[in-house]
Amino acid sequence: MISRPTIPTPSKKILLVEDNELIREGIKQHLQIDNFLVMTAGDGIEALETLEHFTPDLILADINMPRMDGITFYKELRKSPRWTAIPFIFLTADNSPESIRRGRELGVEDYITKPVNHRDLVNTINARLLRAAEIEVAHIGQAYLETVKVLANAIEGRDRYTRGHVDRVTQYTLWTAQALHWSEHDLRRLEFGARLHDIGKIIIPDRILNKKEKLTPEEWELMRRHPKAGAEMLQNITHLADIRPLVLYHHERWDGKGYPEGLGERDIPLGARILAIADVYDALTTERPYHPARPPKDVLEFLRFNAGKAFDPDLVPIFCQVIERTLKR
Ligand SMILES: [Fe+2]
Repeated sequence: MISRPTIPTPSKKILLVEDNELIREGIKQHLQIDNFLVMTAGDGIEALETLEHFTPDLILADINMPRMDGITFYKELRKSPRWTAIPFIFLTADNSPESIRRGRELGVEDYITKPVNHRDLVNTINARLLRAAEIEVAHIGQAYLETVKVLANAIEGRDRYTRGHVDRVTQYTLWTAQALHWSEHDLRRLEFGARLHDIGKIIIPDRILNKKEKLTPEEWELMRRHPKAGAEMLQNITHLADIRPLVLYHHERWDGKGYPEGLGERDIPLGARILAIADVYDALTTERPYHPARPPKDVLEFLRFNAGKAFDPDLVPIFCQVIERTLKR
């Protein structure tokens, strides 16, 4: 039988702070069996020195130690931004309500009482590491969304007629996708796409973006390049690569007369078809250099008239229903 090569996962690093050498070595051995990489320190001071050259994924520390006890070590640790996010577990023989209360007040995540049951210890460590990873993923997701918002607003800020356009288009697009029962994950991707749909307008000079008169054919030519320019900008951002089609195709039309590629019907990605309706609805219901704001009811009529021409005929009724519901509120 040929054994398949396995991809080794990097060992999680643990800093174990314990003054009793026998206990320290016993725990270290067991954690190593479970594939953890363990560094040890005999007290808080030694642990702080170790942290200067070793950043663990989790810290396991005794409370009662000479020179610097576990509680003081924990307080010192949390002072440095480098170490504030490291999960921390107290290892203690002292499970009196008083010390547990003190630890809880400090925000220590968990306690393991000695003598240590090694299975319990490993389970607790794994649970803490998993929780820390989940928090990190959530933070990264939030950070991405905030970055995208800043980017989108930077573009929108140049165009004095479209303030709030991105927020509204995003909202209309998401409402429609929710009516189609999109998954949470797909809704988040769609939100990124909706927020960045006009990012390519960065290539359009202000004088064209804010021009009150009709654009010249050359200016239109440049304006029509923004979906492609936006998609190209996102090409090198791995996290946003999957939303490129939304940016690239938001000006395509159901009848194939749109741009940049003249795709038609269901060759246009569904998200881009929704976005196209939301984009036009918002453009017509708000004031622009070349037209005043039109009443929502008239614009919905316009969308229905253009179903099967500019827009997906199956999506238009759903979009109209979503908007009519909000207009009644
Ligand atoms: Fe656009």
